[in-house]
Amino acid sequence: MTDMAGKVALVTGAAGGLGRATAQAFAAAGASVVVADIVTAGGKDTVELILGAGGEATFVECDVTVESSVRALVATTVATYGGLDYAYNNSGIEGHPAPVAEMTDAEFRRVMDVNLFGVFYCMKYEVPEMLKRGGGVIVNCSSTAGLRGYAGMTPYVASKHAVAGITKAAALEYATQGIRIVSIHPAAIATDMVARAMAESPDMAAAIESMHPIGRVGEPREIANVVVFLCSDGASFMTGSQIVVDGGALCHG
Ligand SMILES: NC(=O)c1ccc[n+]([C@@H]2O[C@H](COP(=O)([O-])OP(=O)(O)OC[C@H]3O[C@@H](n4cnc5c(N)ncnc54)[C@H](O)[C@@H]3O)[C@@H](O)[C@H]2O)c1
Repeated sequence: MTDMAGKVALVTGAAGGLGRATAQAFAAAGASVVVADIVTAGGKDTVELILGAGGEATFVECDVTVESSVRALVATTVATYGGLDYAYNNSGIEGHPAPVAEMTDAEFRRVMDVNLFGVFYCMKYEVPEMLKRGGGVIVNCSSTAGLRGYAGMTPYVASKHAVAGITKAAALEYATQGIRIVSIHPAAIATDMVARAMAESPDMAAAIESMHPIGRVGEPREIANVVVFLCSDGASFMTGSQIVVDGGALCHG
């Protein structure tokens, strides 16, 4: 098992879903975890789950679309636990599906604000703290939608491709300074986001259920385990990579 004792991990969007599972996995590995989300109740529940299992965690309310909020999040992380070693920039929204000709400007920007600018602001304030420690690992949450198209989801697909792009550029910038930066690309994982998507229409539900050759949707812990591995020394030669965790979904082309 990965030993992260003495390390500090920051997870955004950790009020539920993939973020909560990953915060729990970091804590189980021994890291102190900052649980960040715009939703306070769920974030505090995540902290309670971690404390109840014998781990260490603190909740910080943060809106990743607001630069000053992200700056304050990272400052609070350092003030609370003394530094930052690992970050999982996970906050994201799927947006309301519509063909591009019917997509509103406001909706496109809303999705880009959370999924792209949120990741940009996080990296901007995480990197300097990791440089002070002599290194660290950032995992940015993209999607299989960062590697292929999905009809009706232009802003989501654009934002997730952009996450892969800024991950690669930033990885190059800090590769010699001990900071590894990768993106993770899940297919459908059983969270509130997928439940909302499946509720859109029976066709959507059927498409999601049948997209994985492995025969089921994924579980949040199956992403969390990979994020923790990517942050571990076992992944020491990985940076700038796009890590697909998709039950074989992209094998369909
Ligand atoms: N579930 C999937 O199938 C799947 C697949 C591929 C990628 N993803 C990505 O994984 C990430 C997590 O998704 P999830 O499935 O756990 O969804 P989720 O809706 O359960 O969780 C997303 C979290 O992000 C938080 N959030 C939203 N806007 C925010 C903001 N402005 N500031 C801070 N936090 C904010 C939400 O409050 C929520 O807790 C997202 O980036 C999503 O795009 C999910």
